[in-house]
Amino acid sequence: MTQALKFFSKVLHRVRCGPERGASLGYKNCDSAPRSLADIPGPSKPSFLAELFCKGGLSRLHELQVQDAARFGPVWMASFGTVRTVYVAAPVLIEQLLRQEGPRPERCSFSPWVEHRRRRQRACGLLTAEGEEWQRLRSLLAPLLLRPQAAASYAGTLDNVVGDLVRLLRRQRGRGTGSPALIRDVAGEFYKFGLEGIAAVLLGSRLGCLEAEVPPETETFIRAVSSVFVSTLLTMAMPNWLHRLVPGPWGRLYRDWDQMFAFAQQHVERREAEVARRNRGKLEEDMGPGAHLTYFLFREELPAQSILGNVTELLLAGVDTVSNTLSWALYELSRHPEVQTALHSEITAALGPGSSVCSLATTLSQLPLLKAVVKEVLRLYPVVPGNSRVPDKDIHVGDYIIPKNTLVTLCHYATSRDPSQFPEPNCFRPTRWLGEDPAPHPFASLPFGFGKRSCMGRRLAELELQMALAQILTHFEVQPEPGAAPIRPMTRTVLVPERSINLQFVDR
Ligand code: HEM
Repeated sequence: MTQALKFFSKVLHRVRCGPERGASLGYKNCDSAPRSLADIPGPSKPSFLAELFCKGGLSRLHELQVQDAARFGPVWMASFGTVRTVYVAAPVLIEQLLRQEGPRPERCSFSPWVEHRRRRQRACGLLTAEGEEWQRLRSLLAPLLLRPQAAASYAGTLDNVVGDLVRLLRRQRGRGTGSPALIRDVAGEFYKFGLEGIAAVLLGSRLGCLEAEVPPETETFIRAVSSVFVSTLLTMAMPNWLHRLVPGPWGRLYRDWDQMFAFAQQHVERREAEVARRNRGKLEEDMGPGAHLTYFLFREELPAQSILGNVTELLLAGVDTVSNTLSWALYELSRHPEVQTALHSEITAALGPGSSVCSLATTLSQLPLLKAVVKEVLRLYPVVPGNSRVPDKDIHVGDYIIPKNTLVTLCHYATSRDPSQFPEPNCFRPTRWLGEDPAPHPFASLPFGFGKRSCMGRRLAELELQMALAQILTHFEVQPEPGAAPIRPMTRTVLVPERSINLQFVDR
């Protein structure tokens, strides 16, 4: 307790009186010699903590990137919880850093998720694995998910899921007060879609998330996914000594991951039994391209614990990401009817009555406006607003040498709202990606990350988003809730809407 009091009096003193470490140095280096960490400007630890907890809190971390970049320049340093972090917020420097990556890039040196795996003796999946284990998993999963043909082979499976989503949207309209076409909290519906879609691809079975009655264990899984992001942010922000005094966030994090593992375990065990029942040759005959991913992992003889770790993490990765992006896309399209009309025309012209599911993925991936809409939504609302890397050797970033093992945060939210890269950066203008504006720096908007450690679900996510948008806009004109105020994003580890997005789905 004495330690706590000392700490808070130090915070108050520094906030009131303390000079910001290195703030007066600015960014530009006058000497030619590269500078060390000690020269990097940034807020003092207490003033950064005050920014985090007093000025809008952790939920405004993405805005803090923009403010701190304006205050300190493109490179600054601050401590998040117990971890000292260098922040980088210029596309050219992000490129410089990522191009120095080694063969096994590391994302985060300390992760409460890895701690969960260690304490519960669970295997890490691709999201949390590091080193050789990560490399082995990556080379196993990449051909199954990342190759465009591999993702396209799931189009048939996803088409059924999207069909159910459209039926769900029809059913959900007009519940409660308001317009008969209104659906409240569309992200909630798209969560179910995200989970149903990724589960169909991973497990080859339908969970029933889009039915009128959602199975209770599925509801529990969805609640755990949204809760784990909140507890993650809190556990990372809290200094170690506070964990003993305030054990709630760690307890919640363990409970959420335990629930997700339990949910995945049921399904993986069913698939395992199915695989064991069949003889290997027959199975290969039965399941052509597009067979579920768990089957391939069993066929590769990956240990069952590792399959479970991967399936659990992929289920998590596939839910929030797709559902929030789809929610923001429809939110922006409802507020820009001229873009929605143009997109609807592009889609209906491409998808005639005779178009087949086999060619659907290729057709949709070639629609320029559809692609531009998804890019623009991910620029404005990057699901991962700040990614990270821990270099395995000393690297150069601008004027500085960053020693190995330093946590570096890549400020994707700040760069993708930078007016020097994107004129009118806060406006939804998909045509900026169609040659209307000068091309931005290729690292200014990196919603799926970069390089060897980039998003494993990128192709699948793009396909899901394109297919869902195409079907939804074919059936409905999406309009905003009458009189609704604009909605801002907030950080919950991933970027989410700060309140429910309510939209009207009017029959075409
Ligand atoms: C709009 C949708 C999505 C966005 C914006 C997104 C974004 C990201 C980002 C920024 C990363 C970190 C990349 C890096 O460190 O360079 C990542 C990693 C990852 N994503 Fe996604 N993601 C999306 C959907 C998905 C889906 C649907 C899946 C599931 C199949 C998925 C699975 C993963 C996995 C497994 C990783 C870790 C890859 C590794 O460490 O090797 N993501 N994602």
